[in-house]
Amino acid sequence: MKKRILTGITTTGIPHIGNYVGAIRPALSMVEDADESFFFLADYHSIIKNNDPTNILNSVKSIALAWLSCGLDPNKSYFYKQSDVPEIMELSWILNCVTAKGLMNRAHAYKSATSLNDNDPDKGITMGLFSYPVLMAADILMFDSTHVPVGLDQVQHLEMTRDIAARFNHLYKSVLTLPEPMIKEKENVVPGLDGRKMSKSYGNVIPLLENEKNLKKSIMKIVTNSLEPGVPKETENCTIYNLYKNFADKSDISAFETSYKEGISWGEAKEKLFQVINAELMPIRSKYLELEKDTDYINDLLSDGAKKARSLAKTKILEIKEVTGITKIT
Ligand code: ADP
Ligand code: TRP
Repeated sequence: MKKRILTGITTTGIPHIGNYVGAIRPALSMVEDADESFFFLADYHSIIKNNDPTNILNSVKSIALAWLSCGLDPNKSYFYKQSDVPEIMELSWILNCVTAKGLMNRAHAYKSATSLNDNDPDKGITMGLFSYPVLMAADILMFDSTHVPVGLDQVQHLEMTRDIAARFNHLYKSVLTLPEPMIKEKENVVPGLDGRKMSKSYGNVIPLLENEKNLKKSIMKIVTNSLEPGVPKETENCTIYNLYKNFADKSDISAFETSYKEGISWGEAKEKLFQVINAELMPIRSKYLELEKDTDYINDLLSDGAKKARSLAKTKILEIKEVTGITKIT
């Protein structure tokens, strides 16, 4: 069987270097290892929690640009917007009809949303949030994905996808492929400016696609302790060091460790961090600036990606509909 990797990117917010180190860079490094790879912008997932159209649109654009600037080759991978492949929505409904409500009751995202409510457990819960895992199952099963790279928070959704597919195959005919999760073994959590996990919800991010000046400004805002220059410093739990490790090679990391022992000043450490991050982001930034102006090119590229993806999806949905009896009268 072909190795088909697939992963979705929810289009909320503007990409930061935590997304780059934790999601974009590792996913792109898997492409050569797979027979086929699918990366898509999960825009229907993003409207579950966000009702601001401008926000969604800006996010779709900047996330698409981030992946392309970071080296996604649309000739080697399928790259498309979820909403441009309507067969996924058809499949989502079909899967809804074989998914036990009890299974969805157990989803972490739904459970944690209801646990915040006091009297009415369903206050503020939409059907979109409730059936989120079914849409994710449709994304995956639509393309017979065999391997799905995900973070630990998404593993439960993968298990649900397998359950739903197995139930469908049992009820009708074995036409859906059960995917394997590819769990990021040791979750490499990139710290933000305040030392907590870098996240748009904490407002502590270093943006990925900013110019050099703003990148430096961001890095200079990293919170440090008040140890003076000349005083030896610990690398453990140091935000600057932990960020540095994600961008430097082995010998630079060990030189950086030595400079900590020798009492490097925080200003100098931040300058070194800026140099190493900037060196990696420079080609990404110039690609971004080149693509950013050309919205027609990006729209064409996504529309070509959707066309390619749809040619597979159309065949698959026909097969799925046929086994459910939604087909030509004979
Ligand atoms: P945010 O926390 O900013 O909302 P998302 O939840 O949208 O980010 O994350 C998108 C992807 O980026 C996920 O695959 C997630 O694992 C990865 N990611 C986000 N923040 C970090 C981080 N600080 N360190 C490592 N990976 C991260
Ligand atoms: N739910 C995933 C997240 O928030 C994004 C996603 C949507 C996805 N569909 C997918 C990931 C299919 C993998 C496969 O990160």
